[in-house]
Amino acid sequence: MSPDETSAAATRPDDTSADETRSDETRGDDGRADLGVAMVGHGFMGAAHSQAWRTAPAFFDLPLAPRMTAIVGRDADATRAAAARWGWGRAESDWRRVVESDDVQLVDICSPGSTHVEIAVAALEAGKHVLCEKPLANTVAEAERMAEAAAAAAERGVLAMVGFSYRRVPAITFARDLVARGAIGELRQVRALYLQDWLVDPEGPMTWRLDKAAAGSGSLGDIGAHLVDAVQFVTGRALTDVSGLLHTFTTERPLLGEVRGLGGTASSERGQVTVDDAAIFTARIEGGALGTFEATRVATGRKNALRLEFSGTGGAVAIDLERMNEIEVYDAGAPVDQLGFRTVYVTEPEHPYAASWWPTGHGLGYEHAFSHQVRDLVVALAAGEQPTPSFAEGLQVQRVLAAVERSAADGSRWTPTAPASAPPATTSPAPAAAAS
Ligand SMILES: NC(=O)c1ccc[n+]([C@@H]2O[C@H](COP(=O)([O-])OP(=O)(O)OC[C@H]3O[C@@H](n4cnc5c(N)ncnc54)[C@H](O)[C@@H]3O)[C@@H](O)[C@H]2O)c1
Repeated sequence: MSPDETSAAATRPDDTSADETRSDETRGDDGRADLGVAMVGHGFMGAAHSQAWRTAPAFFDLPLAPRMTAIVGRDADATRAAAARWGWGRAESDWRRVVESDDVQLVDICSPGSTHVEIAVAALEAGKHVLCEKPLANTVAEAERMAEAAAAAAERGVLAMVGFSYRRVPAITFARDLVARGAIGELRQVRALYLQDWLVDPEGPMTWRLDKAAAGSGSLGDIGAHLVDAVQFVTGRALTDVSGLLHTFTTERPLLGEVRGLGGTASSERGQVTVDDAAIFTARIEGGALGTFEATRVATGRKNALRLEFSGTGGAVAIDLERMNEIEVYDAGAPVDQLGFRTVYVTEPEHPYAASWWPTGHGLGYEHAFSHQVRDLVVALAAGEQPTPSFAEGLQVQRVLAAVERSAADGSRWTPTAPASAPPATTSPAPAAAAS
């Protein structure tokens, strides 16, 4: 948000004349310290994060009491409406005000990638914890600034996390647990697909996701970033080298009229698409495994199909988020007449996060990963521990994305993901299997 877009007006959803901050709430009746949250952006992720901030405290015993203190947006009326609908205490039109507010301890960034670096660095420097949506930034240089700011803030007990929410889908968390337990033996190959089809129609309008200045890249950063993080998370190993191919099938589209979902209505004017429609790459993975990756928004018929398969010497696990309560498990050591993938329904109390929700077999959905993200973040903040994924991990994912872009621009040449001077890539250590 640029300074000229901001009126510095703060309004409660039901009282458009109010312009004040709350500095009185620091501890609730139960003795837990308040965690005042301010969220920037009120689109898709704004809705998902609002749901998570509302729901996580109701289903998990949190050591801090999150307060949905303020929501920030550029359009005052729309932001007030979002505050009222989703339960935020007040609506603001300048993120700088919440960064400076005494009643805000955490800034939750749910705006496009181009806005992340400025908001996150300012918030961390002002002593606010940060949850920042993925990808961490639009460029490696921005991500480096953010990781540096996070490292400096951590010295002062101020912590930052990237919102790679799919890590907290129970089936994916459980896949990580199985791989860590040795259930697939030595990892050999990974197949990672993220398939959507909302750009198949060449007359589908431009949104910020099709503009490199706002989004950094196309399918690569939007959904390919999830693949990179999920694979590194499940295997505990980094992608070291990549060979990539990027392609834009539709180079010009109508400009956006009214926003609807990921797209919207078309206006009569046209604009240039400056990002990839599809990103395909192969990767070498630490320890000698190989990976194939495909991220596309033109996979006709596929709506939000994130598919991961990990093949090892002793077995395999496979996940498809269009069946997100299931994981397929293959044990190569089973009697020959019983070999085959078994489908495990990841809803037992022993499975990650499941004990806090519904009875066995009742299933979770897309939004629950965001509640788990809030749960894990708040637990880490209360303990003064680094939440994962950290900004350093977000930076490492950004380096992988940049390496794919460099490779694609250079005839798919094999390209290292880490700069020659960089320390080995970092991935999260395996946390406890089940959170409750
Ligand atoms: N974790 C996930 O699975 C997931 C899913 C979708 C999007 N995302 C990420 O979340 C972020 C937001 O995506 P979205 O789908 O919610 O987008 P969106 O277009 O639905 O919403 C973006 C919001 O940011 C606001 N905004 C736009 N430009 C801004 C600016 N310059 N300053 C302040 N606010 C601005 C918009 O008004 C809107 O409220 C992106 O980084 C995206 O990659 C993550």
